[in-house]
Amino acid sequence: MLTSDQNRNKARHVDVREASEHLVVSGHTLYINKSIGFDLTCIDKYLYSMRFSDETLHDIKCRFRRELENGLGRDTNTTATVKMLPTFVRSIPDGSEKGDFLALDLGGSNFRILRVKVTQDKKQPVQMESLVYETPEDIIHGSGTQLFDHVAECLGDFMEKQKIKDKKLPVGFTFSFPCAQTKLDEAVLVTWTKKFKVSGVEGMDVVKLLNKAIKKRGDYEADIMAVVNDTTGTMMTCGFDDQRCEVGIIIGTGTNACYMEELRHIDLVEGDEGRMCINTEWGAFGDDGSLEDLRTEFDREIDRGSLNPGKQLFEKMASGMFMGELVRLILVKMAKEGLLFEGRITPELLTKGKIETKHVSAIEKSKEGLTKCKEILTRLGVEPSQEDCVAVQHVCTIVSFRSANLIAATLGGILTRLKDNKGVARLRTTVGIDGSMYKMHPQYARRLHKTVRRLVPDSDVRFLLSESGSAKGAAMVTAVAYRNKMGLTPTKV
Ligand code: GLC
Repeated sequence: MLTSDQNRNKARHVDVREASEHLVVSGHTLYINKSIGFDLTCIDKYLYSMRFSDETLHDIKCRFRRELENGLGRDTNTTATVKMLPTFVRSIPDGSEKGDFLALDLGGSNFRILRVKVTQDKKQPVQMESLVYETPEDIIHGSGTQLFDHVAECLGDFMEKQKIKDKKLPVGFTFSFPCAQTKLDEAVLVTWTKKFKVSGVEGMDVVKLLNKAIKKRGDYEADIMAVVNDTTGTMMTCGFDDQRCEVGIIIGTGTNACYMEELRHIDLVEGDEGRMCINTEWGAFGDDGSLEDLRTEFDREIDRGSLNPGKQLFEKMASGMFMGELVRLILVKMAKEGLLFEGRITPELLTKGKIETKHVSAIEKSKEGLTKCKEILTRLGVEPSQEDCVAVQHVCTIVSFRSANLIAATLGGILTRLKDNKGVARLRTTVGIDGSMYKMHPQYARRLHKTVRRLVPDSDVRFLLSESGSAKGAAMVTAVAYRNKMGLTPTKV
């Protein structure tokens, strides 16, 4: 247990129109570090394949749109790489939700358990209390039984601390992995992604596995009512504050998006009326080779050394989990070629994981970035010169900018689809967004907003940062499911 937080249920919004990039320009413009007048064109040339022109970004956007269609179609779904999983969530919160819920949040950077109280109180409609539990390495690489026993144990501990062990509260489960769902309270894990590789869970219903673990203990009861992906949770959290929210995005350890699709376009779900949230699982974009022309030798190396080679190729280019490692691999190559550190290569520089994504964020800070860069490189023992620091900062910029560009292109694909679905000349919408990369990196959000605006010019997009995480959204979904189960005024979930 590490932290406890309460009532963090406010959302901060960022308007794309506020965005402005002053340090570097994407596309094919030369990158010049204005602060010390250092010419970085040789690095631009060296990493040319990581810098995308707007033409390439438009091309990626179109490729991704085709993937969306393949995933939705009856005949193309089984072979589609972008799985487009129906979530059985049919609307965003309407403000009538209420109750006392538990929420589990597994699969992001932390395992959290929360108690979420939703009331009709205008001032403070949602109250949350949460605890973070550690999930040790041997559990995320162990057996399914160990994992769900651990989850059940932490839930028991949380209920004890909340003094609610004698109550049977409805539980919403944010499970941030691809799941096939035929209803809200059933979720069959398609495949593990990110850092998880737990045996005996793929192909199984995680609700059944958790229920079994809880029953085995026998010291409390829980009613698991809904499983939601973190993207869906984020969209619902933001939807509570802004009814226009119809897209949810995560750019953290992994990356993914969901959006509200017209039911008539979802071949795998009965019915033609209304909409349903689709979990795109866009991290798998490119797994069929469709991004091969854009992947670099560094991307291939990351993939080879990963837990799931050949899988989640878009995620490996864009998400936070791999950003630091991409930078490290580039630095190693440049040092070997004598382009950095006067050719000095140290065991630390050669060690996987020694440059982390948080380091990339620190290095790109506009004021103290270069000082941080020097500190980080000095710790790696490479004795950097001032020029080395400027060059490394520039490498970080190219890698993180590529990520923002890639996400802008795929998000652009979703936005143009929403626009076509609505048949409007100009799309006005809100995108709920969360994830450490988006939140912690000093320039990331601004770059992303600006590129989206360029790629989808006929739109007014509001980006809404989910300050309270996806669990609040999971509680909203649970609230509606619970109300329907109890036979109260049935509402759409
Ligand atoms: C991975 C998971 C996906 C999740 C994303 C962000 O891509 O497969 O389900 O939404 O990470 O956590």
